[in-house]
Amino acid sequence: MNNVHTLVLAAGEGKRMRSAIPKVLQPLGGRPMLAHLLDAVSGLGQTVAVVVGAGGDRVRQACADRSGVEFVEQTQRLGTGHAVQQALPALPGHGRVLILPGDMPLVRRDTLEHLLTEADGPLTLLTAELDDATGYGRIVRGSAGQVVAIVEQRDATAEQLAIREINTGVMVADLDYLPGWLDRLNCDNAQSEYYLTDIVAMAAADGRAVTAVLEDDPADLAGANDRAQLAQLERRLQQRCCDRMMADGATLADPARVDIRGRVSVGRDVMIDVNVVLTGEVALGDGVRLGPGVVISDCRLGPGTEVAAHSVLEGVETTGPCVIGPFARLRPGTRLAAGARIGNFVETKNTVLGQDSKASHLSYLGDAQIGDRVNIGAGTITCNYDGANKHPTVIEDEAFIGSDSQLVAPVTIGAGATVGAGSTITRKVPAGHLAVSRQRQTHVEGWRRPRKKGN
Ligand code: UD1
Ligand code: CA
Repeated sequence: MNNVHTLVLAAGEGKRMRSAIPKVLQPLGGRPMLAHLLDAVSGLGQTVAVVVGAGGDRVRQACADRSGVEFVEQTQRLGTGHAVQQALPALPGHGRVLILPGDMPLVRRDTLEHLLTEADGPLTLLTAELDDATGYGRIVRGSAGQVVAIVEQRDATAEQLAIREINTGVMVADLDYLPGWLDRLNCDNAQSEYYLTDIVAMAAADGRAVTAVLEDDPADLAGANDRAQLAQLERRLQQRCCDRMMADGATLADPARVDIRGRVSVGRDVMIDVNVVLTGEVALGDGVRLGPGVVISDCRLGPGTEVAAHSVLEGVETTGPCVIGPFARLRPGTRLAAGARIGNFVETKNTVLGQDSKASHLSYLGDAQIGDRVNIGAGTITCNYDGANKHPTVIEDEAFIGSDSQLVAPVTIGAGATVGAGSTITRKVPAGHLAVSRQRQTHVEGWRRPRKKGN
């Protein structure tokens, strides 16, 4: 919107969190609270400024990927009014400023758009009615229903404490008036702070109508001052993510037992069982099925991929229907083609498995290029690390690796070659050959095992 500037107040120490990290960096859905808020305001106004204080460098770092966000330092935390005052030099002289508290991560963009369209006159507040208004500033109205002041919880009389309409902390102020009001603030209150909220009484006393826009669904406007409130917001966010996935065509065995800590996209008929955790950037194609207890970070799973119970996948890409797990661990750089199968207790890292290739049991496959229709027997290990460097293993199409074999890299197993069970392979196996490297079986006739004395 033209002539609208956004200001986020994020300099508070967040004492009530009892944490070494700044409050606005407390994670919600695996991302800092502030990141959610910046998403909601992105592109809404012409500029975005963030007031930082405690741990400001860490806040800047956490926002390093965002262009166009300007930071303002509030070296002494003297209150929300003081914070806005510090930001004035970063704002233009005219226009409107949308002010938001940094600890309100779930505010929705359409709520803010609605507020900006409804905003009228030099000062507009976003308010909400709560059954339990504890902790919030109360909206005090005059006899004609006009807004006359905001009174903070700690400064309120018993009568004011009974008011259910609260200040959400979001307001729109005209930049022609705001600096004058801020100049007149004092810290004569219970917290000895310069309260931004005191500008309301000033505007009213000056005869300027203060507009209040009441938000119907206040749950998304809750602030997070302590960890209990943070946990409530987390539940709310999770519910939102699940609602979106279900709207996009996913079945969730229980939306209360899925956790999304990043951005997830789902195709149609995706099925997600209980206690699944999805982290980072995750894309699930049509018909993907995730079993109970599956953990997935930064993966693209192609249509029809099935991940059975308690498998952990990180940085994996599948290109078609393949079956993984139960109890598989797939690490970054794993790529599986259609029809591939990774069974229980198989670990892969930086490994490509071609079409219809299988590693069904108990293997470690690291730095391996595996072709199509290859069978990797139970207990096969790629010995990719010599103590200093990692080396590649190449297994060509239709090779068969017998159980309990070690492939000492760098090494190549040619197309269609067979490795006998229990072999240690240190040299290239030519295509079509059988390689066996183990001692021949010997027999000692009539061998008697040692016995315990006295038996
Ligand atoms: C504030 C409001 C209250 C409102 C509530 C909504 C004031 C005085 N009170 O109370 O009316 O109901 O939000 O959640 O504004 N901050 C700074 N610098 C400071 C102090 C705070 O940047 O010196 C930032 C904080 O990081 C936070 C925001 O301002 O993001 C609000 O501060 P906080 O201490 O959480 O205010 P509340 O007590 O919640
Ligand atoms: Ca707060």
